[in-house]
Amino acid sequence: MKGGLRFALCASLLLFFSLYLLEAHLKDLYDQYRAGTYLVDWLDRNGAVRSPAFNDVPGDKVVVMAKLQEEPTDWVQEELPECVYDLLFDKIKLGSILIKPLPNSWQRAIYIVNPSEDARSDSNVLTTPLNKGHESMAYLTYVIDHYDALPSTIVFLHAHRAGFLMAWHVDAPLHDNVNAMRMLRTDFVQQNGYVNLRCNWNPGCKEGHRFNQHVTEQVWWDIFEGTSTPPLNHSSPYEQEYSEYKYMRKPDQIGAACCAQFAVSRSQVHKRPRDDYVKFRQWIIETDLNDSTSGRVMEFLWHVIFDMDAVYCPDEELCYCQVYGKC
Ligand SMILES: *[C@@H]1O[C@H](CO)[C@@H](O)[C@H](O)[C@H]1NC(C)=O
Ligand SMILES: *[C@@H]1O[C@H](CO)[C@@H](O)[C@H](O)[C@H]1NC(C)=O
Repeated sequence: MKGGLRFALCASLLLFFSLYLLEAHLKDLYDQYRAGTYLVDWLDRNGAVRSPAFNDVPGDKVVVMAKLQEEPTDWVQEELPECVYDLLFDKIKLGSILIKPLPNSWQRAIYIVNPSEDARSDSNVLTTPLNKGHESMAYLTYVIDHYDALPSTIVFLHAHRAGFLMAWHVDAPLHDNVNAMRMLRTDFVQQNGYVNLRCNWNPGCKEGHRFNQHVTEQVWWDIFEGTSTPPLNHSSPYEQEYSEYKYMRKPDQIGAACCAQFAVSRSQVHKRPRDDYVKFRQWIIETDLNDSTSGRVMEFLWHVIFDMDAVYCPDEELCYCQVYGKC
């Protein structure tokens, strides 16, 4: 009995100690994956997501996406339909039926970055000039091709919909992009201009993440030279003579929540001329950096491109409230 008690005591001590170690190790991962919130949302999965009743103009928003040919994206048309109609009986003219498009309808622009011969020759399939720069090639191609006819809200999304691990970077209930889109406060997108769909600071916004290895002085220079930003350095006496003194230098810190899923308003896109976007895409096409590295660079620069501060890290609680209405 005594031995049994001692064994139980030791076992529980050992257990607590392991749990303690495990906790320290997993805290960072837990934080990154928002595991606790995920669990709470999962338990409440039938009640968690309510579509807010916005006054969106139907179809005045678009989901822009890059996908590999083999990636399934049926979820976009199934869950974010182009046209949602509400059948209403017209009370005045009895017998006739009004069809009213609901606010929550989306345009879709899904680019296949690695199209087969068949796909490339199919005029219904959107493709990019090159498969490089990860999703950025598709994002920029959309902006360039639709610059003069953009909807009010443009959302740039990844192709995979959900999953605790697979879509860990989706920062909406159940790591699900459909929830993210249903909850997204498009009114806040209009107000703020640029909205990162991820509020979680890990990774991208934590202090140590803001000294970016990918965006070197040279890369910054190559990307922004000749575009409408960075702004001219008027305090430089050499402004006219030497181009290296002409522009603002790369900020020491560049930071935003990771993973290149964000929403912008049309007016935010229009703060730059179309030529800037052409120039950014040309940089991706011409750079020696490979697909993933050039994609990484762009991932860290979207918020700068869309006119936010070099470190754009809103308070997490405030972000969930403003972006998703989770207050
Ligand atoms: C502007 O130019 C001056 C003089 O060359 C330089 O000292 C300063 O650091 C520059 N400012 C920025 C923000 O690049
Ligand atoms: C791309 O370049 C980076 C940095 O040079 C390298 O670490 C990575 O392995 C390369 N990826 C591929 C797929 O070649």
